[in-house]
Amino acid sequence: MRCSTKSFCERYNNSFCIGASVDSERWSGYADIIQKHFNSISPENDMKFVNIHPTEYGYSFERMDKLVSFAKQFGCKVHGHTLIWHEQLPDWVKRYEGNEKHIKKILENHIHTVVERYKNDISEWDVVNEIFEEDGSFRNTIWFKSIGEMFIDYAFGVARESAPNGLLFLNEFNGHVFQKRQKMVSIVKKLKSKGVAIDGIGIQGHYNIFYPSIDMIRSEIEEYVRMGLKIRVTELDISVFDYFDRRLDLYCPTSEMIKRQEDMYYSIFKLYEEYRDYIEGVTLWGVADDHTWLDDYPVNGRKDWPLLFDEKLKAKPALLRLLERDETSTV
Ligand code: GLA
Repeated sequence: MRCSTKSFCERYNNSFCIGASVDSERWSGYADIIQKHFNSISPENDMKFVNIHPTEYGYSFERMDKLVSFAKQFGCKVHGHTLIWHEQLPDWVKRYEGNEKHIKKILENHIHTVVERYKNDISEWDVVNEIFEEDGSFRNTIWFKSIGEMFIDYAFGVARESAPNGLLFLNEFNGHVFQKRQKMVSIVKKLKSKGVAIDGIGIQGHYNIFYPSIDMIRSEIEEYVRMGLKIRVTELDISVFDYFDRRLDLYCPTSEMIKRQEDMYYSIFKLYEEYRDYIEGVTLWGVADDHTWLDDYPVNGRKDWPLLFDEKLKAKPALLRLLERDETSTV
């Protein structure tokens, strides 16, 4: 029997926390859902460099402070996303032409200031985000161009100094692709052997209803487990469109899309439960289908429906299925 009154995070209480990304300005619209269904929150944009550190000597903590205080009131933990990324940078960083020493100072000051401010409220951090190209080589960002691969060592070093007990993650997408993962893994091994304070990998989890396969996701998880790394699923969503499908004719998802999405969410969460000893938490990238970054990616202005609550904030069939406790499950 289907029962819509259960809570998503209570359902997984014995396994991992359940999170959603949200910004302070959208909190009130989602308050009821968050209060009932989520026990972890990631700032969608409030902690991005451009918002929190808009000028060289000026930080702007208002939005993030609000989010942390909402989360506290609702008993949600906060996942620190994200410290060092190449997107959503302010112009003063993008245009910075100082030498290596100066850029390193910017990176260090940024991490130190943000982590110090929130270290009592935030215990897990995406320290570096999307640092690899699809072939596993380093992405040629301002950080890499100016400092070289040591920017990773510095970033984790400062984060560890500021948050001695925090969990520190390298957050990445497409780690289910073997070629990319092999290079990532060899770099993480090298970092570990140098004593860099990396605790685990953030698996973003931007998928679609056709891809990747559960076996690919399993291989990725297993590889990190073998390396003794913790896993944090940081940005899960399942687009109803294949990546190369650019159709523009839909005003609502087809029943086939809804069914495929339900099956995929079901299989993914079943897999996550198998690895619950290693998975710290699972966060959806958004709360409900009324607001998702996929409305503008990969096709600008095309509606997508990738989450577990619909545009009217109602639980979708995929969520109701997850809430039915699996008879074969051991939890
Ligand atoms: C990346 C970032 C997220 C978010 C998404 C979608 O995955 O890590 O913060 O910006 O892109 O926009």
